[in-house]
Amino acid sequence: MKRILITGGSGLLALNWACAVRDHWDVVLGTHQLSARLPGTTSHRLDLEDPQRFGEHLDQLLPDLVVHTAGLTSVDECEKDPERAHQVNAVIARNVAMATARRNIRLIHISTDHLFAGDHGFYREDEAPQPLNEYGRTKALAESWVQAAHADALTVRTNFFGWGHRQRQSFSDWLIVNLREGKTLSLFDDVYFTPILADALALAAHELIDKDVSGVVNLTGDERLSKYEFALQLAKEFSLPAELIRPNQLAHAHLLAKRPLDMSLDNSRAREILGRGLGTVPQFLSGLHVQEAAGRRTQLLESIC
Ligand SMILES: NC(=O)c1ccc[n+]([C@@H]2O[C@H](COP(=O)([O-])OP(=O)(O)OC[C@H]3O[C@@H](n4cnc5c(N)ncnc54)[C@H](OP(=O)(O)O)[C@@H]3O)[C@@H](O)[C@H]2O)c1
Repeated sequence: MKRILITGGSGLLALNWACAVRDHWDVVLGTHQLSARLPGTTSHRLDLEDPQRFGEHLDQLLPDLVVHTAGLTSVDECEKDPERAHQVNAVIARNVAMATARRNIRLIHISTDHLFAGDHGFYREDEAPQPLNEYGRTKALAESWVQAAHADALTVRTNFFGWGHRQRQSFSDWLIVNLREGKTLSLFDDVYFTPILADALALAAHELIDKDVSGVVNLTGDERLSKYEFALQLAKEFSLPAELIRPNQLAHAHLLAKRPLDMSLDNSRAREILGRGLGTVPQFLSGLHVQEAAGRRTQLLESIC
């Protein structure tokens, strides 16, 4: 089996990515502070801040593919501590890109849909980033550093959901947990995105790697919808009370970091290369439901210590 090293191994995306590919890949979860124990995978503590140490990890583990998911993902934490955001999102990404390029290791770098001003929908790969906050600025810088350091890197812009763990609740976890407890929730009906299930994202990224695709590719779902509409669809799939979901607007939330109203990405480049759609929200939510019934949620809840 070929070996895949996933940085940010205790994170939401890394754990779901590992579940999606562990039957076909020897998965190593590269961890930081938290430890990961996921059946069918191994874990290895990584130092991504020190390029030389990270190079030594690569020489020891000899992965065929690295997926770089590690990052400071809280938009408001990035705004509070821009230096840390710069270090974790941009400098570490450059370290990973330089070390993998030097060893001819394929790299998938995970970027975001948070790169634009949000004044229109369906952003394409060739539109110049215009980030509104520190998270977006540091992720945009990471993209350019990664592409400069590693010409063959695949940079994936996305927005995903999936099952999380006790210390990392996903957007869909937050909705499901609160609605199951009968709590009323406010969701933005003026913030739009194109979400994808984490497994669908991982499998599409592997297909792109198999086709030797590099550069920036939007890997998002086929549908643009508001966070409010997403919550209603989730409630329907999981038979939860939709009347607990109230519409709200971003301007009323008084969040620390400025956020784009429209984060939707155009996935036509990916659809053209893959020769298929990436999937719709009902399909992804049904997949999430099936995962819970198959024990994914319990396994991930127990995976972090
Ligand atoms: N979640 C989303 O909806 C979303 C949307 C678009 C793009 N993305 C991007 O997708 C990627 C994965 O996101 P996620 O939600 O899975 O992240 P997450 O759950 O917040 O996990 C982040 C991971 O990064 C690790 N990390 C943090 N600081 C580190 C450091 N200094 N050195 C090494 N590792 C460090 C964390 O390890 P410890 O916890 O042990 O510190 C954790 O494993 C990120 O690049 C993010 O920008 C996420």
